[in-house]
Amino acid sequence: MTRPAPHTASTPDGPAAAGSAPAGPAPSADTVAAAFTERTGRPPAGVWAAPGRVNLIGEHTDYNDGFVLPFAIPQRTVLAAAPAPGGTSTVRSAQEDGVVEFTAATVAPGDLPGWAAYVAGTVWAFREAGYPVAELDVELDSDVPVGAGLSSSAAVECAAGVALAGLAGVEVGPTELARIARRAENAFVGAPTGGMDQMASMHGRAGRLVFLDTRDDVVELVPFDLPAHGLELLVIDSRAPHAHAGGEYGARRADCEEAARVLGVRALRDATPDDVTVIADDRVRRRARHVVTENARVLEVVRLLSAGADPREIGPLLDASHVSMRDDFAITVPHIDVAVEAARAGGAVGARMTGGGFGGCVIALCPAEAATAVTDAVRAAYAERGWLAPTVFPGTPSDGAGRLG
Ligand code: GLA
Repeated sequence: MTRPAPHTASTPDGPAAAGSAPAGPAPSADTVAAAFTERTGRPPAGVWAAPGRVNLIGEHTDYNDGFVLPFAIPQRTVLAAAPAPGGTSTVRSAQEDGVVEFTAATVAPGDLPGWAAYVAGTVWAFREAGYPVAELDVELDSDVPVGAGLSSSAAVECAAGVALAGLAGVEVGPTELARIARRAENAFVGAPTGGMDQMASMHGRAGRLVFLDTRDDVVELVPFDLPAHGLELLVIDSRAPHAHAGGEYGARRADCEEAARVLGVRALRDATPDDVTVIADDRVRRRARHVVTENARVLEVVRLLSAGADPREIGPLLDASHVSMRDDFAITVPHIDVAVEAARAGGAVGARMTGGGFGGCVIALCPAEAATAVTDAVRAAYAERGWLAPTVFPGTPSDGAGRLG
């Protein structure tokens, strides 16, 4: 999930009809603390951070009680905060204009539009979970690209969550904080997402994938040491405009619920590829087929990587995931399919869209020596079509949310 700009409709992957902005420089604890002090005239009580995520595989499975395999990325939201002296809370972001005010003691869904809802919503959900909340001042900065499907909004929510726990002096575990952050997203911001993004942001660990069973939020960290195998995972931000993504996400979710109802199962997690063949409606059957085959692909990737296989072996599973998202789940767009095809032609051993869809990013697993050729191939394919150049950066599994200072 990404942060909507003020006054745009919130969608599961970012602002409606806007391409992603290229990421700015990585914010440091010192610069965000200095910005806090300059605005409020006093130092923050602490500085916290939480990352965005890339999903290696397992797309649109999280709201079907299924399996996902994301990792936290180095790009993150850094947040400085302190109790506020008066009866009002304030929040300012380096990426946005102006200071937004709200009352932590009473703020409720519907009170606040725009980007500040991710902070205020987390305050609301934290309070609703029974934890003490005092009025607070918040300063934040982020280098998670907005609108790229890299969960810049989960990064804000999770950074706010760890800060709220820190300010209140209470121990709250990462899964509970992820659930609080997701509640902010679902019930305050109003995006009907699953819980993958917040769990990845909270549980991420350097060099590890976060294998999550979303039925009961059980996490297992899976080693993912690409350099040891001479490999690199490129993240290619298509910068494609996402039009209508919000409604499409909800429509996919409704189709999955309909499929589970027709099959008489609690969720599609409980169905097999054979089971879904009996669904009469062609569209609902294809949506269900994506989810059940995607769950199987996640389990196979986890099996291979946990057994110490060469990560090249997961390439065909990444490719199959993309085909399934393109043909059965119908969530890709031309910018995305062209990036995947060009990356494969340029030497990637596997490539797929990552995130909610309708734009966003592609990941390409490449031999390290082919990374430049893959990047060039995607850039050339975009230039040929007169499209904005994609941004490309390495996807490096990194640590999850925590306190910086
Ligand atoms: C978005 C949502 C997640 C998940 C993905 C698709 O990122 O926030 O919960 O559903 O789309 O896998």
